Amino acid sequence: MKPNKKVLLIGGTSGIGKALIERMLEDNKVEQIFATYHRRQPITNHPYTEDPDVKEPDTKATDTRATDTENTDTKDKVVWLAMDVTSEPSIKQAIEQISEHVDHIDWAINAVGLLHNGSHQPEKAVKQLDPEFFIDNMKVNALPSLLIAKHLCTRQKKQKSLLKQRHNSNF
Ligand SMILES: NC(=O)c1ccc[n+]([C@@H]2O[C@H](COP(=O)([O-])OP(=O)(O)OC[C@H]3O[C@@H](n4cnc5c(N)ncnc54)[C@H](OP(=O)(O)O)[C@@H]3O)[C@@H](O)[C@H]2O)c1
Repeated sequence: MKPNKKVLLIGGTSGIGKALIERMLEDNKVEQIFATYHRRQPITNHPYTEDPDVKEPDTKATDTRATDTENTDTKDKVVWLAMDVTSEPSIKQAIEQISEHVDHIDWAINAVGLLHNGSHQPEKAVKQLDPEFFIDNMKVNALPSLLIAKHLCTRQKKQKSLLKQRHNSNF
């Protein structure tokens, strides 16, 4: 595999996403990780430090702050961005912010998912199906990956065509 991978990891603050960041921090093939948070805004960029005051997402923030305790080899490897996967404008904005740093993403990993909430547990029988909860599930578990693909592809196509124009104007 070629080195210098640029990765977008959606949902990096806990569970599977956090574990993936920790793994990729040790992987020399991964050059940059753009990781997203929703409700738990990271206070450091390496890879996620629990903030006792859970903050509401600031969709304008690109949090690249670091602390002295971080490993200096990897402290710039993670760039945190706010993203709410249930909001298309939020997905679009985060991907636009990434485009300011890099011209393409090699891997996009969506680690966000909803299994249950305060009022609903995972269904174990068809009779437990609740249409409203089912739609909520689709909005978090299915639609976001398509919207992320839509905005990543749109952005990368635009950048490819800009690069081509620049290349042609050099001749
Ligand atoms: N963990 C497992 O062993 C396991 C096994 C099989 C399947 N799964 C499934 O895999 C999925 C992820 O599991 P997990 O354990 O990693 O979950 P988790 O620990 O609850 O992490 C969820 C992540 O998603 C983010 N998130 C939640 N809602 C969001 C939204 N609307 N927009 C953007 N980001 C959002 C959270 O960000 P904030 O923290 O910033 O809010 C967090 O980073 C779930 O569907 C789960 O059912 C998990």
